[in-house]
Amino acid sequence: MNRVSGAAGTRGGDEWVLRRILDSEVRADPYPLYEEVRAAEPVWVRGRPVVVFASYAACGEVLRDPRASNDRGHSLLFRQTGPADGNRTPSPPAELPSFLFMDPPRHTALRRLAAPDFTPRAVRRLTPMIRELIDDLLDEAAASGRLDGVADLASPLPVTVICRVLGIGTGERDWYRTRSSLLGQAVDPYLAFLGVPAPGLARRRQAEAELTEFFSRLAAERRARPRDDMMSRLLAAETDGERLTDEEVVTTCRLLLNAGHETTVSLIANGLLTLLDRPETLAALRDDPGTAAPAVVEEMLRLQPPLQLVHRHAREDMEVRGTPVPRGTTMVLLLAGANRDGAVFGGCPHAFDAARAEGSQHLSFGLGPHYCLGAPLGRLEAELAFTRFAQRVVAPRLAAGPPGYRPHVVLRGPASLPLSTEGIRDRRMPWEAAAPDT
Ligand code: HEM
Repeated sequence: MNRVSGAAGTRGGDEWVLRRILDSEVRADPYPLYEEVRAAEPVWVRGRPVVVFASYAACGEVLRDPRASNDRGHSLLFRQTGPADGNRTPSPPAELPSFLFMDPPRHTALRRLAAPDFTPRAVRRLTPMIRELIDDLLDEAAASGRLDGVADLASPLPVTVICRVLGIGTGERDWYRTRSSLLGQAVDPYLAFLGVPAPGLARRRQAEAELTEFFSRLAAERRARPRDDMMSRLLAAETDGERLTDEEVVTTCRLLLNAGHETTVSLIANGLLTLLDRPETLAALRDDPGTAAPAVVEEMLRLQPPLQLVHRHAREDMEVRGTPVPRGTTMVLLLAGANRDGAVFGGCPHAFDAARAEGSQHLSFGLGPHYCLGAPLGRLEAELAFTRFAQRVVAPRLAAGPPGYRPHVVLRGPASLPLSTEGIRDRRMPWEAAAPDT
């Protein structure tokens, strides 16, 4: 067993590696650090009930184990209180948790109610709407004469799509976007690695309260006058013979807005960045999008997971790959490390290879009961965005140097992607066929 022994800020102990993961300087390439953690696995954090895993086998085992809970109530870390200076005071959830942070059976019941809107078949019906949105965004960029892959495509697309699915107006999409982006840092592992909440706690609490108020108002409106939308369906739905409370509907909608937005932004933004260096992949997307796009998205998910890590808490004493993990321990699972584990992903696990046979075994959507509900939607948005980018954007290149990254550890992605191009082709070109060679 590998007890972390490095003194704070010193090199030499595994704790140093964990601290480095939080460092914004490494955001552009955190993968060598994940390798180090995998080589030293299991890595225990001194003084806190926290263990970190980065191998495919360990991450997969924990995600499948019913004793590994996603309810923070089972975590000693989230229950620990510290001295009055607040340095070790944890950040308990201020609001009622969404079903992501519940265990079965309540998790199962609530998830089941949201599931019909996110099946592959339900999601495929959104294709015309998503295509139109992408073409509108590219037209706006063409008209403005500038294209930022994040601000003009990756960022506005997912928030607009999820708002349409939920049945909420898109007029204030910047308002949702800034708030859900702030909430994104709540999941960063500051508490696990340093014992302090992630920076910006007060602003996050404020954003959380504003989103809750917004959805509560909307829930009251929909209860009074139901519409043909997801929120009205959730308000009318019954589980175990009981109606959902307004609070449960609000936390579910907030989860869908946040989970369905930030992750997809990162997937598209990281993907565009990768495509810039791969003219042959852009050509494959133009020539045969039906085959190329799903494979490119899968490999992008493996190589650059939008959610780099997840937490689980031992609800009872358990063992992970022979390591005893006492009850109350928080397990940090580096999915981004697992996805590059050479034991599973052959050849060079760090290389982009859309043809690799085992690529779709990645853990980027999680595994087990909390497997991403929106996986079909995230995949579809990214497939369509990559395809249309390849078809319509002529000779895209980075306009400046390498991009800066957002400070988020878990939701990793570039902050902006200013591009220079030789033009944006007309939207009338067909989606299915190869682009004309213009
Ligand atoms: C394409 C990018 C996406 C990625 C990489 C992603 C990743 C993930 C991961 C890793 C989890 C599991 C978290 C855990 O086990 O703790 C998850 C859960 C979830 N995701 Fe996604 N997600 C994406 C897109 C979406 C979209 C578009 C939605 C749409 C609503 C969505 C909704 C959810 C929900 C509701 C959960 C909770 C599931 C549960 O607890 O049962 N995600 N996602």
